[in-house]
Amino acid sequence: MIDVYSALRPILFALPPETAHHVAMSLLRAAPPWLARQIAGSTITQSISLFGVDFRNRVGLAAGFDKNGVALPAWEALGFGFAEIGTVTAKAQPGNPKPRIFRLPEKQALINRLGFNNDGADVVARRLERLRRSGRWPAIPIGINIGKSKSTPLAEAFEDYRYSFRRLHSHADYIVLNVSSPNTPGLRSLQAGDSLGGLLHAIQNDNAARKPIMVKIAPDVSPSQLVEIITTCEEGGAAGLIATNTTLDHSSIAVAKDEEGGLSGAPLREKSTSLIRDIAAQTKLPIIGCGGIFDQASAQEKVEAGAGLLQVYTGFVYRGPALIREIAAW
Ligand code: FNR
Repeated sequence: MIDVYSALRPILFALPPETAHHVAMSLLRAAPPWLARQIAGSTITQSISLFGVDFRNRVGLAAGFDKNGVALPAWEALGFGFAEIGTVTAKAQPGNPKPRIFRLPEKQALINRLGFNNDGADVVARRLERLRRSGRWPAIPIGINIGKSKSTPLAEAFEDYRYSFRRLHSHADYIVLNVSSPNTPGLRSLQAGDSLGGLLHAIQNDNAARKPIMVKIAPDVSPSQLVEIITTCEEGGAAGLIATNTTLDHSSIAVAKDEEGGLSGAPLREKSTSLIRDIAAQTKLPIIGCGGIFDQASAQEKVEAGAGLLQVYTGFVYRGPALIREIAAW
């Protein structure tokens, strides 16, 4: 394994966060898979099966890093057990004004208010079709995370999700209904029992292929909301839950450093772990654990709380590819 990231990180961190992200993505897209494999070292293989899908290890790339599905071969080469692209919306959209990602290195955290900037379901679907035809489709499972377009009124949200589902599901090993991003007004209200039940029903009606449908939830739900979400997921035939998205609880951040948006990374760790524990106590539905995973201890804690698979975003930004091996090896 070549430790390229310790040399690269100071350069990336000297750039504004979103520019650094684009530079990193360009490098990953351009790097031949053999180089990415050298950087990652040998892949950890543990063969985990969850909701009918086989994973080569339990560590996945969380949604939001590769929103447009442009670097799928790189995620496999870096050693991830699976990768989730998106959030993709039915319509292409620019997202919120910049700057909209903020680093808080002293807290090992990020705040973002991107607002689902993405190419839209049609463009992403065509990109994935091209990748398949090129023969470079990765051997790891690919999840596709879908959300609501900003310009679509909440009352028409189901149709918006259905459009993305129909366009994209044939490329996905699992689909995620994102009802938990804090940066699209009203989106999190879709976590309420009636709305979530309606959304699951609408999607399952189009799901003749029986793709596993995961529901990604916020860490900020109350105990009674959680009971309702779990019941609705069980009744609506969801394959499992992804816990969690970013938090709106900024109480751990000094006012001077604070920004509007979803907080991720170390300050989210305990909150998401305790939600995973609460979910596991109430249901046998599989859980993908996400939030503040930075090392083996924080990964182990999530598995012990009940997560069958894990996802990383902020930890991957701060620690690079070395994190994947470290937590997959355990
Ligand atoms: C995210 N996350 C996210 N989640 C999602 O479902 N759709 C998305 O488009 C995004 N976009 C996004 C952008 C940025 C910059 C960040 C930092 C995060 C949330 C992400 O997938 C994950 O759930 C949380 O960040 C918690 O995990 P970490 O970052 O603490 O490992």
